[in-house]
Amino acid sequence: MGRLQPPRDPVTLRFDGEEIVAERGEPVAVALVAAGHLSLARSPKFHRPRGPACQRAACDGCLARVDDVPNVMTCRVPAADGMRIDTQNVVGSRDHDLLGMADWFFAEGMNHHELFAGVPGVQLVMQAFARRVAGLGKLPKEARPPREAMRREADVLVVGSGPSGMATAVRLSERGRKVEVVDDDLAWGGSIRALVGADAAAWQPLVQAFGSALVGGRVSVRLGTTAAGVFGGDVLVAGEAGVEVVAPRTLVLAPGAHDGVLAFDGNDHPSVMSARAAGRLLGYGVLPGERIVVVVADRGGPFGEAFVRAHPAATLVRGVPVSAKGGGRVREWTVATPAGEQRLKADVLVVDAPRAPAYELCAQAGAALVHEDRGFVVHALGGRIRDGVYAVGEVAGTPLDPTAVANEADAVAESA
Ligand code: FES
Repeated sequence: MGRLQPPRDPVTLRFDGEEIVAERGEPVAVALVAAGHLSLARSPKFHRPRGPACQRAACDGCLARVDDVPNVMTCRVPAADGMRIDTQNVVGSRDHDLLGMADWFFAEGMNHHELFAGVPGVQLVMQAFARRVAGLGKLPKEARPPREAMRREADVLVVGSGPSGMATAVRLSERGRKVEVVDDDLAWGGSIRALVGADAAAWQPLVQAFGSALVGGRVSVRLGTTAAGVFGGDVLVAGEAGVEVVAPRTLVLAPGAHDGVLAFDGNDHPSVMSARAAGRLLGYGVLPGERIVVVVADRGGPFGEAFVRAHPAATLVRGVPVSAKGGGRVREWTVATPAGEQRLKADVLVVDAPRAPAYELCAQAGAALVHEDRGFVVHALGGRIRDGVYAVGEVAGTPLDPTAVANEADAVAESA
């Protein structure tokens, strides 16, 4: 576990007082994993330990207080010298949270709305206790000053800088359109950044074309910037630089897909992460564990296999996890495979399951949704949701394949 190479531009962070050396600009959650920390947060109600399972702002397992700001997704914060990261929502310490007793007391679940309801006196005590146990973090000492939201028009707005967003941006820019791309990540590339070595090579022409479009000024990209909602023809865009309502002539939604989550005993353990998250860590030169088992479920891929190709010491198994055995750091996993149940020793379990399209913005834009086993898929013929609004990439069921992505971008550029 840890870094494959020492940081080239090291900075020092403090995590609950412990000094941690990080690469400047890498996500803080990556630096914490590199330093051996997988248990970063606690669930709000039962205080079960949580870990950075997605590395893409979608699981909340990396929430912490950063420089006195609560509930920060540390997978979306660049490491900087002197940064202070504190575990929140615990009584005791991150590893020994007294409030974790709630999980032990109420092993079958707990509805705090009904707990001792109607019992004079006890009800008030229980309500106070429930408020103390639940919730996330404490407010900062000072409120941030309010910021003005601007409204402006744009030619093309692309939401998401993954492969489909990149390809469509390039194609539209080649037709003389002025393209702006927003992404809440710290770097562009989306899922491509979870592929390393030979698996990343197939995407190099697209990476180069997008890079050239940026350098040539035909496309601009704003990172750390979230498209928070679509309201008619307007998109609410928020980032450190400010908040705006953008009204684009053409809106391209490329939000990708959420990691697939399988139901098994122990699936919320900090030692469990998605194959895409493990690939991202490897892209930063970080291994999440010493013994890693990668489970590829039916219709999962391509990140699990790609991870094992880049890190052959990991064990690849096809099947579904059944249970975990061990303490704070799980040691043994039971996996159901076509050949029967296997027990595998590992300190990290990487799961590659079918991803669920991140359909939310598309639904707000009026897209029709089709339900499949993996979740809701946007139904957009030729990528078109309605006049001037398009959905591309995994959200619309397009495979993560360079040719499919290029063809889709051509069709959207032609139509738009
Ligand atoms: S939200 Fe940060 S790792 Fe999942």
